[in-house]
Amino acid sequence: MKNIVILLSGRGSNFEAILKTSRAEDWEGRFGLKIRAVISNRPEAAGLARAKAEGLEAIAIDHKAFPSREAFDEALAASIEPFEPDVIVLAGFMRILTEGFVKRFEGKILNIHPALLPLFPGLDTHKRAIEAGCRVHGSTVHFVSPVLDGGAIIGQSVVPILASDTPEALAARLLPFEHALYPKCVRAVALGAVKLVDGRAVMDDETARSLAVF
Ligand code: GAR
Repeated sequence: MKNIVILLSGRGSNFEAILKTSRAEDWEGRFGLKIRAVISNRPEAAGLARAKAEGLEAIAIDHKAFPSREAFDEALAASIEPFEPDVIVLAGFMRILTEGFVKRFEGKILNIHPALLPLFPGLDTHKRAIEAGCRVHGSTVHFVSPVLDGGAIIGQSVVPILASDTPEALAARLLPFEHALYPKCVRAVALGAVKLVDGRAVMDDETARSLAVF
């Protein structure tokens, strides 16, 4: 059995996309791949309620209850470890993780970022892409490294930027492409088709083609 643990902070639409795909493709039956838990740093997160409603283990660890980032990450790691994760999926998890946490689970933590990295790490990505005059925008799934949004790139999805775009309209156009991309990346890493080697995501050509979504 291979175990997936999902971390989120809000709406949870990427979590839902992964859950839906895992069921449609029968990840558990075909690959022994199972979502073991959904954990949120925000007890009120809609994604956590959804996980509970779906019968999944849903755990809240309120970061505001901890005196430091290190203390929160220690509690987070302690709650993740019993699930023996093969992949930890950050799905709209809006906390910066400490180097200690990242190193503890190196090569296993994935994040989705709403920009074509290495362009636009950080916040307000849709607005910044429009303001920069880009004609395309996208999302990136990457291994998490101690550098914010700086880990090895696993897969990307791309959408056009229209002349009339607002950040909200662009975000709405991109979201379904995030949902198409992330489950593919999670499955590829969980099945060993993508590995982190010397700071790079190593995969074959067929996998690389499947992880470029247009
Ligand atoms: C997604 O657009 C994701 O790319 C972004 O937050 C949203 C979460 O939506 N992540 C980041 O900005 C990470 N820095 P969701 O909760 O509906 O999946």
